[in-house]
Amino acid sequence: MNVKEQVRERYGEAALRVKTGGSSCCGAAPGSGGCDPITSNLYDASQTSAIPQEAVAASLGCGNPTALAKLNPGETVLDLGSGGGIDVLLSAKRVGSTGKAYGLDMTDEMLALARENQRKAGVDNVEFLKGEIENIPLPDNSVDVVISNCVINLSSDKERVLHEAFRVLKPGGRFAVSDVVTRGDVPADLRKSILLWVGCIAGALEEQEYAAKLAKAGFGGIEIEPTRVYSVDDARAFLAGEGVDVDAIAPQMEGKFMSAFIRAVKPASK
Ligand SMILES: C[S@@+](CC[C@H](N)C(=O)[O-])C[C@H]1O[C@@H](n2cnc3c(N)ncnc32)[C@H](O)[C@@H]1O
Repeated sequence: MNVKEQVRERYGEAALRVKTGGSSCCGAAPGSGGCDPITSNLYDASQTSAIPQEAVAASLGCGNPTALAKLNPGETVLDLGSGGGIDVLLSAKRVGSTGKAYGLDMTDEMLALARENQRKAGVDNVEFLKGEIENIPLPDNSVDVVISNCVINLSSDKERVLHEAFRVLKPGGRFAVSDVVTRGDVPADLRKSILLWVGCIAGALEEQEYAAKLAKAGFGGIEIEPTRVYSVDDARAFLAGEGVDVDAIAPQMEGKFMSAFIRAVKPASK
C-alpha cells in the first residue's frame, strides 16, 4: 500500500468508528489513548455547543484553525482534509449566509460523515467535495481563506499541496493552517517513532523547511506559531509499547515536536 492508500484506509476506519458511537481518536494506536494530548480540548464550549456532537466526536485535528484565522462575513473558505467537518461547520457560521465553506476530503466514509453532520447542523452554505489536496477541484483565484487541520503532514507531496493552495486562493487570500511541525535537527529514529505516535504517516516538515516551501509556492507574510509543544510524557505509553527507551530519548525530544498555526498570504498582485 502506498502512503495515500494507508491514509485513506486509516481515516475510513476512523469515520466508521464515530458512526458506530466509538471515539475516532487519531488512529495511530487504537485503544492506546496515545493521541489524546494532540486532539483533546482544541475547541471551547461556545464552539462545540454550536455544532452537532457527532462533528465534535469526529475531530481529528491538532489545532483550531478557525479560532486563529480571521474569517469575515461573505468570504469563501476551503478546508483541506475536512474529515467529519468540524472546521467547515464552524467556518460556515463565521462567513454567514452570504459566504461559503467548502470541505475537501478523499475518503468516502469521512465525506459521508461530514455530509450527515451538515444535515444535522441544518446549514446550506457548506459543500463537501471529494478529491485530493494535491489536486484541488476548484478554479484558480476562487477562495479567500484556505484552512486545514492536521492534514498537510499526511501528504507525501507537500510542495504540490502548497502550490495548489496558492493557486485557488484569490490575490490577498490567506493560508491559515494547523499542522504538526518539527524544530531543528532530530535523529531519524526518534523522528520516525514520534511521528508514528502523532499519526503522520508521511512525516511532518521541519518548521524552516515548511516556511521555505510556502515561499517557493509564492506566499508572503509567513508565520509559524507553536500552539502545543509535546513532551516525552505525552508519548510515553505509545513509545514504551514500541520498545523505545523513553527516558533515554527524552532530552533529544524536548521542544522539537509541536502543533503549530501556520499563516501566509498570497500577494495581492504580482
Ligand atoms: C487527521 S484527519 C483531520 C480531519 C479534520 N481536519 C479534523 O480536524 O478533524 C485527516 C483527514 O484528511 C484526509 N486526507 C488525508 N490526506 C488527504 C489527501 N491527500 N487528500 C484529501 N484528503 C486527505 C483524511 O481522509 C482525513 O479525513
